[in-house]
Amino acid sequence: MTWLITGGAGYIGAHVAKVMTGAGEQVVALDDLSAGVRGRLPEDIPLIHGSALDGDLLKRALTEHAVTGVVHLAARKQVGESVAQPTRYYQENVGGLATLLEAAAGAGVERFLFSSSAAVYGNPDVDLITEDTPCAPMSPYGETKLAGEWLVRAAGQAHGIATVCLRYFNVAGAAAPALADTGVFNVIPMVFDRLTRDEAPRIFGDDYPTPDGTCVRDYIHVADLADAHLAAARRLTGEGATGDLTVNIGRGEGVSVRELVDLIGEVTGDRRPALVGPRRPGDAPRAVASAALAERELGWTARRGVPEMVESAWAGWRAHRGI
Ligand SMILES: NC(=O)c1ccc[n+]([C@@H]2O[C@H](COP(=O)([O-])OP(=O)(O)OC[C@H]3O[C@@H](n4cnc5c(N)ncnc54)[C@H](O)[C@@H]3O)[C@@H](O)[C@H]2O)c1
Repeated sequence: MTWLITGGAGYIGAHVAKVMTGAGEQVVALDDLSAGVRGRLPEDIPLIHGSALDGDLLKRALTEHAVTGVVHLAARKQVGESVAQPTRYYQENVGGLATLLEAAAGAGVERFLFSSSAAVYGNPDVDLITEDTPCAPMSPYGETKLAGEWLVRAAGQAHGIATVCLRYFNVAGAAAPALADTGVFNVIPMVFDRLTRDEAPRIFGDDYPTPDGTCVRDYIHVADLADAHLAAARRLTGEGATGDLTVNIGRGEGVSVRELVDLIGEVTGDRRPALVGPRRPGDAPRAVASAALAERELGWTARRGVPEMVESAWAGWRAHRGI
């Protein structure tokens, strides 16, 4: 069994590659390095430098490496950018997926794992989001993930490919400083960024209907997320693996932005009080996964807590910036 990991030089992809090779799986990565870093991948994992939009390259890669399963992470992932550039997001996230699925079906690949997102749900008014909660994405990015799931399931049915779609909640932390997320798109790096500039952290709204008035999210350590991919890959290669599975990957526990900022203060030693500003449009008051299906279907549960996420993210932040 050889797995192709697209986006393998990215933040999550490199963690997935590390965990899968560590568990004895054969892995080859494909990445256009638009956001990825070659050095994140262990030396012994071959990296094909190219795009998931390049059908000919994909066909060659799948055949030459005798790929039997695909883990598809390559995508653009910035919500704001997707609002400004929807056609680009549909082209890259949905068009790239269609090209890849076509190549995979042509090469006889029988297993396909897709990176989806909690963004498919939008802003549901529920305590815990289950996989049956209606999907109503609020951005083109979320739409491309939902359309991607539809496409994965349809292609799976048409071509006899067993599929899993993993809906990640808020991914954070790093297994090692060199593997950390280098972007400043999520709340934890955004707070680090403010502190590094000698500025107080910012909280967008403290008048939400939540216990402390700030938004509540479900944070998942990237190393746990990588373990979930291995569990899903094992399910896809197990006895009689057919059909499709769509599953939330979260901890099932909510943490408020205020609690997170306080924790970051403890970890960094910089406890200056946060500035509270107005709400940001589109932020849901609460988005917490039900993690029950993942446990039942994959035999997987998260093991690492939020302090470990913040500590490892901070170590990565400092290592990348030499501070
Ligand atoms: N980080 C999160 O919190 C989060 C949450 C939910 C879902 N996801 C999804 O997880 C996946 C990975 O996210 P990440 O945080 O590791 O992002 P990332 O930007 O670090 O990784 C994406 C990787 O894909 C590569 N890539 C992008 N377009 C490509 C293309 N057309 N061909 C080949 N390579 C391409 C980039 O160079 C990068 O290495 C994405 O699909 C993202 O939508 C991420």
